[in-house]
Amino acid sequence: MNTAVDTAKREREAPYEGPLLDVRDLHVEFVTRDGVAKAVNGVDYSVSAGETLAVLGESGSGKSVTAQAIMGILDMPPARIPRGEIRFRGRDMLTMGKEERRKIRGQKIAMIFQDALSALNPVLSVGYQLGEMFRAHRGVSRAEAREKAVELMERVRIPAAKQRVNDYPHQFSGGMRQRIMIAMALALEPDLIIADEPTTALDVTVQAQVMDLLAELQAEYNMGLILITHDLGVVADVADKIAVMYAGRIVETAPVHELYARPAHPYTRGLLDSIPRLDQKGQELYAIKGLPPNLLRIPPGCAFNPRCPRAQDVCRAEVPDLFPVTEEDGTPLEGRGSACFFWKETLHDR
Ligand SMILES: Nc1ncnc2c1ncn2[C@@H]1O[C@H](COP(=O)(O)OP(=O)(O)OP(=O)(O)O)[C@@H](O)[C@H]1O
Ligand SMILES: [Mg+2]
Repeated sequence: MNTAVDTAKREREAPYEGPLLDVRDLHVEFVTRDGVAKAVNGVDYSVSAGETLAVLGESGSGKSVTAQAIMGILDMPPARIPRGEIRFRGRDMLTMGKEERRKIRGQKIAMIFQDALSALNPVLSVGYQLGEMFRAHRGVSRAEAREKAVELMERVRIPAAKQRVNDYPHQFSGGMRQRIMIAMALALEPDLIIADEPTTALDVTVQAQVMDLLAELQAEYNMGLILITHDLGVVADVADKIAVMYAGRIVETAPVHELYARPAHPYTRGLLDSIPRLDQKGQELYAIKGLPPNLLRIPPGCAFNPRCPRAQDVCRAEVPDLFPVTEEDGTPLEGRGSACFFWKETLHDR
């Protein structure tokens, strides 16, 4: 049977050995009336097939701008990318030809946004919008496209998909709309999905269902997944590793459970301590003091120093690298890094 999905499968490349996506020293700035806002200041992260990376950080830390740079959907100007590499299967998308880049971004990498209602077209049925993915990229007939749309809706467990294929986005609940967004992202069987706060607008139970569905499909299709969130709780069960962002830099990376158990950066520690816990009911919730920096005037040294309980002179003078994190006896901790001069104290001093 030569269906659109079969065709899509055939067009898939052989598994790639290295990381699918490898972002290196990425810088993004915005030229504004008041000056240059340095939104992304040397981000490194990578994702392999079948792996889930959660990107965590407060509002304004550069999570979405990094994703937009990867997707090539930044408006330039005002944005510019003065430095960095965004390698997909080893090839830098920032320097490759337009046509090649367009193919990767249209078919190999898909993005899921927070707000399905504004990402979907309100005057077209969801079946039509899903079907268009196949018609535009796979050249199938209208009838086949409709059939594929129903299949996808079933894939993301929309009840009575056949009956609902002609419904419009506003006729679905928020959770169902987010499932439709996932279906859109899956349509062309991408290698990588970037989900930017995909469940933030949903209530807690629905959040968990949508997150579980996304994780399940990701495993089944062996895709790479980048999950952007400011809520550690949402990603704890589905992510493999976490990159914590602050003022446009990665300040800590770690396998997800290690990050929870033993953070090695005072900022991560603060984020963890500010999560409400059932066993501490009634106790006052910790909050990191102060505010994230103005990106027009990032403080010298470590950008977190004005808010940091551990800050010393060195923190105000020098920007810390992402140091490898080890046990006290020097045993390396795989996949762990902290951009803090005092990572040792933070890690071992709990
Ligand atoms: N077009 C633009 N012009 C100027 N500054 C911008 C523009 N787009 C984004 N920024 C700035 O870049 C910084 C990073 O924004 P980004 O959207 O990546 O944050 P975020 O980490 O995704 O936060 P949130 O959790 O709120 O989504 C912000 O300070 C934002 O104001
Ligand atoms: Mg964002």
